[in-house]
Amino acid sequence: VTAEKAGYAHFMLKEIHEQPKAYRDTMGSRIDAAGGKIIFNELKLTPEQIHKIDRVHIVACGTAYHAGLIGKNAIERLARIPVEIDVASEYRYRSPIITPQTLVIVVSQSGETADTLAALREAKRCGATVLAITNVVGSTVAREADDCIITWAGPEIAVASTKAYSSQLIAFYLFSLYLAQVKKTQSSEYITEVITALRALPEQVETILGQFEQIKNFAEEISTHSDLFFIGRGMDYAVAQEGSLKLKEISYIHSEAYAAGELKHGTLALIEEGVPVIALATQEDLFEKTVSNIKEVKARGANVLGISAEDEHEMIKSVDQHFAIPKTLGLLTPALSVIPLQLLAYYASLALGNDVDKPRNLAKSVTVE
Ligand code: G6P
Repeated sequence: VTAEKAGYAHFMLKEIHEQPKAYRDTMGSRIDAAGGKIIFNELKLTPEQIHKIDRVHIVACGTAYHAGLIGKNAIERLARIPVEIDVASEYRYRSPIITPQTLVIVVSQSGETADTLAALREAKRCGATVLAITNVVGSTVAREADDCIITWAGPEIAVASTKAYSSQLIAFYLFSLYLAQVKKTQSSEYITEVITALRALPEQVETILGQFEQIKNFAEEISTHSDLFFIGRGMDYAVAQEGSLKLKEISYIHSEAYAAGELKHGTLALIEEGVPVIALATQEDLFEKTVSNIKEVKARGANVLGISAEDEHEMIKSVDQHFAIPKTLGLLTPALSVIPLQLLAYYASLALGNDVDKPRNLAKSVTVE
């Protein structure tokens, strides 16, 4: 068994460490040799069809849904197509407006999740084009969708998804860039800039992994608490939701992810002396606003771990502990900022003596609705 885990104590830790490779493999031949263009040879979707798409629906469950939140942001920003996103178990029941001009993107690590599959079938019945982002070649979702982008994360064994999620982010970035390239919604210089930043991510992830001790210490601190909060704005809020889910899944500590600006409308009442708050502030345009939210929780006694770029001195001054992530484009920060949150969940679970790879009540793949 240890051999299967390549020397790691758990599959989850092994899979966390496989992310640089998963990023490289998912980018693979989808970036041309010169690093200036996205190539999607596997897609049947034609440029003519892409020009006709007037809305995108993203549908998924759990962690894959959280990847979809980033996907929505990337598609809207880069390709300027409006995107709606739903959890698959809600999608069919709200009578979504699906037309032949709708592109429905279903995201599923396993490609077998019952709710996601039902959403895919409903979308097809309504005449939409369905694109699957999945990690399993030949899975039901991969077979039934019109098109498929495989995330080359390799087999994921731990119930708590890590490398599948982050590879889904990479798939979304590539696909959004591809849409932008076809629709000419971004200059080729900007596309090249994003591609260059994408290619730098694997090494930046290595850097973060090398700093695990700092997160391990904070994880041990929080493991004695029963409630904590994750806050952030924009894409940081989406990553906060994934961090909170990861922690709940394997540590069983209750946590909530909150849009930082929404705190004052209710949740602030729960902040008291010593409550841990993990604050993400990686988005330059939202930075000052998030820092002022951090000051609000600090004033009420919160114990804050701040996550931002290394040179954000204002942030570093305002928090109890700071974890620095390497500089990248705002759009791509989720692919880096999620790593410390995965490590936080892992080490909190470990400190509590839980079964990290097989949390209670949860299954890797849920094939009932
Ligand atoms: C289960 C797993 C989650 C996963 C979700 C969706 O709940 O425990 O980790 O995110 O299903 O799975 P999928 O295979 O569709 O991505």
